[in-house]
Amino acid sequence: MDRTGIVGDAPELAAVLRAARLVAATDATVLIQGESGSGKELLAGTVHTHSRRADGPFITVNCAALPEGLAESELFGHRRGAFTGAVTDQTGLVEAADGGTLFLDEVGELDASVQAKLLRFLESAECRPVGAGRARRVDVRVVAATNRDLYAEAQAGTFRSDLFYRLHVIPLELPPLRERRGDVPLLLEHFLTTLAERHGVAAPRPVGEAVRMLEAHGWPGNVRELRNLCERLVVLRPGQEIRPRDLPPEIVAADTGGGVAQTLFQLPSQGIRLVELEAELIRQALERTGGNRSRAAELLGLTRDTFLYRMKKHALA
Ligand SMILES: Nc1ncnc2c1ncn2[C@@H]1O[C@H](COP(=O)(O)OP(=O)(O)O)[C@@H](O)[C@H]1O
Ligand SMILES: [Mg+2]
Repeated sequence: MDRTGIVGDAPELAAVLRAARLVAATDATVLIQGESGSGKELLAGTVHTHSRRADGPFITVNCAALPEGLAESELFGHRRGAFTGAVTDQTGLVEAADGGTLFLDEVGELDASVQAKLLRFLESAECRPVGAGRARRVDVRVVAATNRDLYAEAQAGTFRSDLFYRLHVIPLELPPLRERRGDVPLLLEHFLTTLAERHGVAAPRPVGEAVRMLEAHGWPGNVRELRNLCERLVVLRPGQEIRPRDLPPEIVAADTGGGVAQTLFQLPSQGIRLVELEAELIRQALERTGGNRSRAAELLGLTRDTFLYRMKKHALA
């Protein structure tokens, strides 16, 4: 997807962008799932700008911030006198999105009564303001986002399962940054450059060990954490070389010195079979050394005896 502002070429991200491009051309309801800071809002905006609705409104509703008791009226509007304080007719956010896209951010936070109203709207494409006798047809495309496991919550009964399935027509799953580490250098470069430009200073440059630490970091706050760090470095260390002492303690302290275990190997979410991995590494070490067991043992950081023992264990000797 071009003109998206989405930086990254990790295959895990490319697959999501491909699906987003296909879905953007339709009016299908989209549910974007991913950890906080992984780019859900950015992706929702992309779906809108690549749709036929691009010239229409893009209305964001932060479902977690809807005032309790007023959520229905915020979403669907109200008529004058519908309740105490309703002194004028008020258009809701759903109607404001007519002809465009309604982005329901953190949709998992909606309480049960509002979930029911939202479901009714999704099924009828009609919006009925609180206190209004009649509903009005609206032309709205819904994109929802959540950082919760809504499937599990629907199974457990804490989120309406009929609403879940109504939203889950096209799921787009943004992988956490730690599962697309290859994009870290690209994102660092992108944010250091663009933020330096915005602040009118020269971009700082991470060097040596600092580069390795940034690439090894787990980024629990995902792209948002990375972007914020870049902004801090741009402001506090303009034009400078960035070394480990310039990095925040959570990045330096958690660093284990760049062992392969951390930088090269990430436990996949579906898990692995450790025994098979060990056998595979032994095979690869032997292949690499042309069958020289002493050098293969060295490659794996094992003594020759331990290596021979493990070869036997895996029936490789
Ligand atoms: N792949 C990306 N390329 C460029 N900027 C990104 C990317 N992913 C996220 N961002 C930026 O990181 C910040 C957090 O993204 P956001 O979409 O708000 O995440 P979420 O909604 O999942 O919490 C925003 O400033 C966003 O523009
Ligand atoms: Mg967000």
